[in-house]
Amino acid sequence: MNNTNNYLWWQKNIIYQIYPRSFQDSNGDGVGDLRGIRQRLDYLEWLGVEVIWISPIFQSPMADFGYDISDYRGIHPLFGSMDDFEELLSEVHQRGMKLLLDLVPNHTSDQHPWFLEAKSSRDNPKRDWYIWHDAREDGSPPNNWLSVFGGSGWEWDTTTQQYYYHAFLKEQPDLNWRNPDVQQAMLDVMRFWLDKGVDGFRVDVMWHMIKDQQFRDNPQNPDYDPREITFRQLVPTYSTDQPEVHDIVRMMRQLTDQYSERVIIGEIYLPVQRLVIYYGQDNQGAHLPFNFQLLTLPWDPERIAATIDEYEGVLPANSWPNWVLSNHDKIRIASRVGIEQAKVAAMLLLTLRGTPTLYYGDELGMRDVPIPQEEVHDPQGLNMPDLNASRDPARTPMQWDHSPYAGFSEVRPWLRVAHNYQRVNVLHQRDDPFSMLNYYRKLIQLRQKEPALHVGNYIPVHANHQIISYIRQSEGVRFFILLNLTHRPCYFKSEHEEIRGKVVLATEIEREGTYLTGSIELGGDEGIIVKLD
Ligand code: NOJ
Repeated sequence: MNNTNNYLWWQKNIIYQIYPRSFQDSNGDGVGDLRGIRQRLDYLEWLGVEVIWISPIFQSPMADFGYDISDYRGIHPLFGSMDDFEELLSEVHQRGMKLLLDLVPNHTSDQHPWFLEAKSSRDNPKRDWYIWHDAREDGSPPNNWLSVFGGSGWEWDTTTQQYYYHAFLKEQPDLNWRNPDVQQAMLDVMRFWLDKGVDGFRVDVMWHMIKDQQFRDNPQNPDYDPREITFRQLVPTYSTDQPEVHDIVRMMRQLTDQYSERVIIGEIYLPVQRLVIYYGQDNQGAHLPFNFQLLTLPWDPERIAATIDEYEGVLPANSWPNWVLSNHDKIRIASRVGIEQAKVAAMLLLTLRGTPTLYYGDELGMRDVPIPQEEVHDPQGLNMPDLNASRDPARTPMQWDHSPYAGFSEVRPWLRVAHNYQRVNVLHQRDDPFSMLNYYRKLIQLRQKEPALHVGNYIPVHANHQIISYIRQSEGVRFFILLNLTHRPCYFKSEHEEIRGKVVLATEIEREGTYLTGSIELGGDEGIIVKLD
């Protein structure tokens, strides 16, 4: 039943997210690029990751660091040329690896020719490609929808005397996905990259793509906490997750299915019951709607265990799970749960059932880097300075070695390097058997070697206020995973079945190879993987 041959590459492998500005600079301009990524493929292969997802590399005025695209078919010169891209893709494939691109279909840059045309006059043929609306009688915006990056979601256009809608920056006008020409134009973009051979897309803000046709006001959020971004003041009931979005996702899927073994991953922040609808009827929607629950839940073992069970329970038949621990929009895992818990978190990510996504640098234990106010780049941080909302701290240069600028660049990088880079870097950690990097590598290799860990069943065992434990099983091979999510020692005694077996991997290397029977004691921040007899 769990024969690995029955599973596809995007089910069996680990996705590694590269934020291209910050991975490796090859041309001395302080910004990472495609040739830089190519130079580091040996590292990724050594680490054992086989699928790379690169955040946007397209032409863009960079108001939102590439998530504001002005040409979907062009590579931004900061990252290189189309030749560089093709060389990277071909080398990735030669190594048996896969490459995913970021598709940003919800909005374009305000400098995209489509928008320049649309805003040139009310009767321009591209006018309806975006979302325009008259002002209310008093001149105010048509409804109360907010921008994720602060303030109203509506921007007044003085030339044509209407508002346009932007879920993010005013430099990122939302496309009107109800317009069939928009649908075709974006499918053409997908076709362009699929024809080049890319293995799939991570689709930006998939749940935003269609808005309420009546433009009704969003309701107030009774749970709003003023420490959160202002967007959370309202519940985006009418501006996101509309039923018609699923028709669009299906369209994207149908196109992708014309190619062999490509994948669509949806970026979707929704409660799990609504998230799983994005798999589509009969799994004809996104292959993997990103499951962000580990990014947002409190680090509480009982809640996490209940969340895993709930997710396993609501997954539609034959759909494939996935888990994410960090990304370029959120606090890094080592900063969120603390460096002491980072190994436990990695063990959780890499032993759960479903495709894991690993964010570059987490394998070193990179933490969020404090960026002085005057160096903040992220528009979310700049627009809401009092909320500490900048995403820059999680986007700092990869720490490769102890040379100046951590081997990321020969010049001062666009964002400062962590001050601990001389200690926390790839070169240093590679030689240290106790390092985070070697721990990650062992976890990745064990997961990839053992079908029980990459495709096996998930069987919950026990959770309490300190621990989570479960079994992964395939064809008679069983692994027992026990994680202590607290700093205090904990004690485990199974009531239902005898745990007997050898520890094959542990946060504390000294435990590896030991044989366990009956009750188990773990120190604070410890986790073990036991191969059961
Ligand atoms: C989600 C992306 O992950 C984020 O970085 C970006 O700012 C918004 N979408 C807008 O595209």
